[in-house]
Amino acid sequence: MVHNKETESEARIYGCARIGSSVLTHCVCIGFTVFMAVMSWPGSSLFSWHPFFMTLAFSLLMTEAILIFSRHGSPIRKCLHKTKVRLHWILQSLALCCALLGLAAIFYNKHLNGKAHFTSWHGLLGLITVCVVSVQSVAALPLIYHSLAKGWSLAKLKRYHAASGLVTYLLGSISLCLGLCSTWFTTSVRDYSWYLSALCPALSALAVMNQVSSAYMAKKRLQSC
Ligand code: HEM
Repeated sequence: MVHNKETESEARIYGCARIGSSVLTHCVCIGFTVFMAVMSWPGSSLFSWHPFFMTLAFSLLMTEAILIFSRHGSPIRKCLHKTKVRLHWILQSLALCCALLGLAAIFYNKHLNGKAHFTSWHGLLGLITVCVVSVQSVAALPLIYHSLAKGWSLAKLKRYHAASGLVTYLLGSISLCLGLCSTWFTTSVRDYSWYLSALCPALSALAVMNQVSSAYMAKKRLQSC
């Protein structure tokens, strides 16, 4: 009896912690995107569109597209899986468009100013990230149109998609953090705001890693039963 009550309260504490951390992740990715929009003030210059579109793509749209499948933190937890999948690819397509617009803005801005391209770690990894996101988006098509990948089981395709999606997301988070190290950002914020800003993509990446790896472990456990 006492043991039952203990496990019940433990489950309640874990449940509250999970809901709390999911709410925190949503707040972090929305708050960080709003903060970056205020900092860059899109439209104030050609450059301003770069941090704005990139944060919108990687901090908001891509994070929310993944959190849709979270068991505890999905805002549409009770909807059909089909609905979640549809919203996932709509958000991911929007993220890809924003990432391409962000890349075009910085590329054209540098071209106008006669500066060399892809010379920093941020610029180089950023370019790789946008290329990987484009490949990941095209490679996801067989998940919707299965006839495009004959001979591949849907389960295998989903596993590869989740694993490569996680890598893509982490690349995006690292590129975001490297962007925060740029002179433009470090001279625009004070010390503590810089640390708080860098914490945002790091926290979101932890939440996404936890979600994807737990789903993978749960499937593995089911297969071995
Ligand atoms: C995942 C998100 C991001 C990606 C994929 C990305 C990608 C890139 C790329 C490819 C370039 C080089 C363009 C060229 O050389 O023609 C670049 C430059 C730049 N980005 Fe980002 N960026 C991202 C986020 C950010 C953020 C959030 C900021 C600001 C806080 C930022 C600030 C800059 C600055 C100042 C430059 C010019 C200096 C340089 O080349 O390093 N970026 N970015």
